[in-house]
Amino acid sequence: MNAAPPQARPQRGDELELQIDSLAFGGEGVARLGESGYVVFVAGAIPGDRVRAVVHKRKRSYAHARTLEVLSPSPERIAPLAQHPGVAWQVIPYERQLEIKHAQVREALERIGHLEGFELEEIVPAVEQWRYRNKLEYSFGNTDGGELVCGFHAPAGGNAVLAMDDCLLASELGNRAREIAAGWCRAQRLTAWERGGGGPARTREQRIGPASDGRVRLRNLVVREGRRTGRLQVRIVTTDGELDAGGLAAALAKGLGESLDGVLWTRSDRPAETTQGGETELVWGEGELPERLGELDLRISAEAFFQTNTEMAEVLYGIAADYAALEGWERVYDLYCGIGSIALTLAPRAGELWGIELVEQAVADAIAGARRNEIEKVRFFAGDTRLALPELLERAGRPDVVVVDPPRAGLSKKVVHRIIEASPRRIVYVSCNPTTLAPNAAELVEAGWRLARVRPVDMFPQTHHIECVALFERS
Ligand SMILES: C[S@@+](CC[C@H](N)C(=O)[O-])C[C@H]1O[C@@H](n2cnc3c(N)ncnc32)[C@H](O)[C@@H]1O
Repeated sequence: MNAAPPQARPQRGDELELQIDSLAFGGEGVARLGESGYVVFVAGAIPGDRVRAVVHKRKRSYAHARTLEVLSPSPERIAPLAQHPGVAWQVIPYERQLEIKHAQVREALERIGHLEGFELEEIVPAVEQWRYRNKLEYSFGNTDGGELVCGFHAPAGGNAVLAMDDCLLASELGNRAREIAAGWCRAQRLTAWERGGGGPARTREQRIGPASDGRVRLRNLVVREGRRTGRLQVRIVTTDGELDAGGLAAALAKGLGESLDGVLWTRSDRPAETTQGGETELVWGEGELPERLGELDLRISAEAFFQTNTEMAEVLYGIAADYAALEGWERVYDLYCGIGSIALTLAPRAGELWGIELVEQAVADAIAGARRNEIEKVRFFAGDTRLALPELLERAGRPDVVVVDPPRAGLSKKVVHRIIEASPRRIVYVSCNPTTLAPNAAELVEAGWRLARVRPVDMFPQTHHIECVALFERS
């Protein structure tokens, strides 16, 4: 089918021929239409490509499209290695990926935050360009022919799940766990749940409840790996219903031997595509996965966040420690502390440390981690940073250094104001999204801190995701 010449404002479903001239935050290619310069964000395209793409979302001032065909490839394009929808940047040479990420950090801080005068250090390349993830969340789906598949969603949305032979972001061991679990589910003739409603005739129960024979329908498979310990945790996420979970654990134990650390089963009736929430039970082995990070001996609960690239987390925390420049007497707050890995890493160089984290199970892991590693000067609390920070200030006193490592949405205005009130000498901001770091940074600078240094770290090769550490010093 021939693509239509670009209109000033395309409609949903239109096929367009587009020339890609840059990459947006979030990784999509950017094309501009006609004299108006109407922007189309194009998934699956890189600068220099000429593509045929279909519009799937249209707004007043921009649209989103999905590449159907690369008509004329960018001279930079390289052959993809992986059949994997999560690695859209694999067609960009790795050195170039690093340059783009470095430039996007600068652009976010300068253009969104209107900041200047800071030192943007070189980006730290990843140790491994493939097979670096310690956690993979796979989805179960049914093919049109009714076959059960366990893989990833097709790019740019949609409910279809693509089968996966070898996930090049996971280790060979992690792949083996997925193959065994999926094979066992197929042998049991289990089916996947129906995403996206399954048609108007279906009731809520039919969509998110058990299959008609009373057995579960499969939602996700989460495989987590202790990269330094070689141990695996496998969690199957299903609808309500019956499952021979012991049989699944036996199959995994037989295939993985000593490497299998624990098998968990989560039953969830959430309509959304998420592996969080629901009721989780331990089926076999241990509930917390052992991992080592630098000198630390850690255990990670299924519900707790842990940096997905263990090797690069060590590098990231090293930079955070460098920026914190502790002399041994300081009071340090670790906000959004997860299982406490930053606070525990900084402990040998600090006077006292206090961590706040929302997920109770992660806080339990942090407290146990402090005990296991014989670190006494650290205290962890469960709570929402926004509400818990004033209480912590009263209890612990003003911090000398605050480390923050928030989710992608960054810090709310309220939290920024609470940090400003706490008035630390130094703020170390670990960010997984420079576009939310930038406005937070602008507020801190406005309040009297100086953005001194920023260092991007590549935790996620072959993807658009950018991590960086920023240092603010009170002027
Ligand atoms: C990017 S992770 C960082 C965790 C940890 N610093 C690390 O390096 O592993 C963000 C953490 O913030 C927690 N979190 C999210 N919202 C929160 C809130 N409002 N208050 C406290 N913690 C929150 C999440 O559960 C998650 O553990």
